[in-house]
Amino acid sequence: MINVGIIGFGTVGSGTVKILLENKDLLKERLGFEINLKKIATRSVNKERGIKVSDDMVTSDVSVLLDDPDIHIVAELVGGITPAKDFILQAISKGKHVVTANKALLATEGKEIFKAAQKAGVEIGFEASVAGGIPIIKVIREGLIANRIHAVYGIINGTSNYILTKMTEENVEFSDALKEAQKLGFAEADPTMDIEGIDSAHKLAILAFLSYGISIPFEDISVEGISQIETQDIEFASELGYKVKLLAIAKASNSEIELRVHPTMLPRDYLIAKVEGAFNAIYVEGDATGSTLYYGRGAGDLPTGSAVVSDIVSIARNIVKNATGRIPLITATKSDIRIKNIDDVVSMYYFRFSALDKPGVLSKISGILGNYNISIASVIQKGRRIGEAVPLVVLSHQAKERDVRQAIKEIDLLPVVMDKTVFIRVEDREDWQG
Ligand SMILES: NC(=O)c1ccc[n+]([C@@H]2O[C@H](COP(=O)([O-])OP(=O)(O)OC[C@H]3O[C@@H](n4cnc5c(N)ncnc54)[C@H](OP(=O)(O)O)[C@@H]3O)[C@@H](O)[C@H]2O)c1
Repeated sequence: MINVGIIGFGTVGSGTVKILLENKDLLKERLGFEINLKKIATRSVNKERGIKVSDDMVTSDVSVLLDDPDIHIVAELVGGITPAKDFILQAISKGKHVVTANKALLATEGKEIFKAAQKAGVEIGFEASVAGGIPIIKVIREGLIANRIHAVYGIINGTSNYILTKMTEENVEFSDALKEAQKLGFAEADPTMDIEGIDSAHKLAILAFLSYGISIPFEDISVEGISQIETQDIEFASELGYKVKLLAIAKASNSEIELRVHPTMLPRDYLIAKVEGAFNAIYVEGDATGSTLYYGRGAGDLPTGSAVVSDIVSIARNIVKNATGRIPLITATKSDIRIKNIDDVVSMYYFRFSALDKPGVLSKISGILGNYNISIASVIQKGRRIGEAVPLVVLSHQAKERDVRQAIKEIDLLPVVMDKTVFIRVEDREDWQG
């Protein structure tokens, strides 16, 4: 029998407890031994959780659980940095294996935690930290172990995907879509982490760490959210054959990797572009497998609880077979991989210039773009309103980010340009099989 302690009895904690209790017999049947939920520590012991557990199962004193020598595995399901980090380090120091869903903590303090776990000879499971119900961590660590990972593209924030889907399908503005997401429980009261791309970047740091064997300084990830996206850009994207998605991208070339999170236009016939609502999807391109795609629920009590229990089971199996550490956290530590500066990234771009409707404007703008080696693939100019500002949409061929930023700076100074230029990166590679 393997004993488990859970800290945090909120959304994920409740889902995990429910699965451990309701599927206890099924798990025993599959494993040949019992996974026993021994203790739950949480702030408010008497809060109603919709699950029946005995009174003596729940405590508000985390040390009761951490000091129990019979508890083999501790699941930290509190979230945030403090005191979650402290709970994890204490559990490790007491020789307990740890499972966590805490992407924010792993993305920013993972190095220290993994080091402590390695030193103590205990395992850290973090399947629930990325894309809830999709077992993407196991996919990269085990399923794709034979591959060099060329690229990872993820829709890994359900809130943002829900908002963009709503804006696309119902033609509503960002703020209204956000309000609806909050009403339905897809967005938190403070949605900053989700809509500004930070949550996606946390998850990208974890995926890139596993894919490329390097610890990612979080600040090296270029992050942009969706709060500036307007419905007119979604409509123009649609006219050009694209959908707008918040994409987390890790792409390897030679000894460099690109790490970026930003709104991205994707050809609407790519499978990943069809991922709608609060769903998540991750595309992984391996040198042996080619394209692979994983789809499912990225959050919620039971999908995330499923991931937590999967980690508990993996660790329990290793304990029983006396084989903990069987699958090392990373297979190799690469010191020769550099993280590419966003300025050096090459991509196609969508531009929306707010330009006066008068002769010669397009040639002025295209002249500046040309000076920065940005060549035009197509142009949309709508609604003639002589002497007034109208949107002038330009799709470019591949261009360098540094050049794009410089060109926009110059263009926005033109007297015929009335507002800041909007630009969105476009992923439309021929070798992408999305
Ligand atoms: N929600 C999701 O769908 C989801 C998906 C993937 C990953 N995650 C990650 O999972 C973790 C938990 O998220 P959640 O949504 O379950 O959060 P949540 O609903 O807010 O639950 C957090 C729980 O931690 C407890 N807690 C807070 N401070 C504590 C302390 N000092 N000592 C003991 N317990 C404490 C709270 O106690 P009380 O309830 O007793 O006040 C609450 O039960 C986070 O790292 C999150 O990023 C969540």
